[in-house]
Formats: sequence, structure tokens, C-alpha cells
Amino acid sequence: MFKFVVVSDLHFVPDGMLSHSIDTVERFREAVIHINEFNRDAEFCIVAGDLADQGETAAYERLSLELEKLQIPFFLVVGNHDSHENFAGVFGDLTNSETGFMDRCIDVHGQRIIILDSVMVGEHAGWLGEAQLSWLKGRLDGAANMPVIVVLHHNITDLMVSNDEIRLRNNGPLLDVLSGHPDIRHVISGHVHLTSSGTCSGIPFTTISGCHYNIAPRRHDKEPRSPRFDGPGQYAVVWSGKDATVVLAEDFSHRQVHLPIELFR
Ligand SMILES: [Fe+2]
Repeated sequence: MFKFVVVSDLHFVPDGMLSHSIDTVERFREAVIHINEFNRDAEFCIVAGDLADQGETAAYERLSLELEKLQIPFFLVVGNHDSHENFAGVFGDLTNSETGFMDRCIDVHGQRIIILDSVMVGEHAGWLGEAQLSWLKGRLDGAANMPVIVVLHHNITDLMVSNDEIRLRNNGPLLDVLSGHPDIRHVISGHVHLTSSGTCSGIPFTTISGCHYNIAPRRHDKEPRSPRFDGPGQYAVVWSGKDATVVLAEDFSHRQVHLPIELFR
């Protein structure tokens, strides 16, 4: 078995700012310390989007400094709170020339890890374009005998919470493409700020609650929006081997203070 980690929803802010009352930069520092202490033997870290809270250049500059402290290699992809343009201004242009988005394919220990850029520019919901789906099919066809794990920012199905409307909107075509491969081990997402696992059209998935606030499952119809808490801070530890892939939720911060809904208007 080899392992890698997935971190999501950093929501970095410019110096002196908070996001929904949370010091998200300090929260990510905790994550980096935790990874360096307990998961330094991981092959790499995938940071699965919402790197910045509002796509600010100053936020990416702060993130760049913090990532220097991470003692394992990392791969970055954007989320709905990010700006491709401002990201590229700090980290360089990571656009895949075949798709026009930051899609990437990594082969490690005989397995294929595919990172998809699910951003629909100007929208909070996610989308994968025709060129991306075609590129993905090519990467899967070229790995017919390899286990495949997919990482993207947006969750691929409804989770019965109040922000279901901003999940990956065209999940059907993605699931159709994935269903053509014999060994899709898992789809891992952030975005929803909730720990979940399940299957969708036979494809197993996990969402991690990430480094920002968490939402709770909606408990009854009179609760119009899912309750929000200031943690825990969580990343995923993914172990994968010949016959099995497991996704472990690693809480690096155990905070869970109920946040007033007024912070989210
Ligand atoms: Fe998001």
C-alpha cells in the first residue's frame, strides 16, 4: 500500500482578514504541521481547491509561503472560490493544453491518480467541459489495467444538505465516463465542508470537510440552511494497494463551535 493525502477548502485570505470569523491561514498552518508530523511518508499532497477565499492575489502569495513548509510534494487545483488568473500570477500557468483547465494525471506505484478542475467560471456550482471529459476518457482508456482514483473540488452527487444546488452540475456525463473503466477505486472531493461517503451510479466517493468551517447534515424540514461549525479541520489520508483503497478522515483540529448563521449572509 502507498499513501497520499488530500487537503481541501483552505480559503486563504489577505493579511489581517478572517473568513466567516475563522483565521483560515492559521488553520492551514495546523494542517501542515500535522502532515509533516504524521504523514511525511505520504507520496504527495493534493490540495483540492478553494485555495483562496475570494481568489485574491494576496491570498495566493500567503499560500505560496505556507506551502514552502510542507515537507512532501504537492499538487494544486482550483475550486469555485478561486481565480485561475490570479492563481497563475503566483504559481504559474498549470493549464492542461488539451483541456484548457488544470487537469492532471499522475501515475504512482502502478495506479493512476487523476485531478480534475471542476470550476465553472463565474459560478459556485461545478462543471466539466466536453474537452475535459474526452481527455479523462483517454486517460482511463490508457490505464485499463490500473486502479484509478479521481480527485476534484466539487462533490459529484447530492448530500441532502442546503448547498446541494452547487455540486458538480453535470455529474451524469462524468459518471458515464468513469463507469467505462473496470477499476475506479474512488472519487474524492471537498467543496461541501462535510465528511461523507457513498456511491453514485456504482462509483464510490468521499467528501472531506476540509480546512474551513463545517456544515452539519440538515436535521429537519424547518431548518432552511445546514448548521455551521468552526471545525473540525480535516484532511484525507488515502491508502491504496493491489486489492483495496481506503480513505481515512484525519482531524487535525478538533474545534466544533456553532457559528451564528448571520456570519453567512
Ligand atoms: Fe467550494
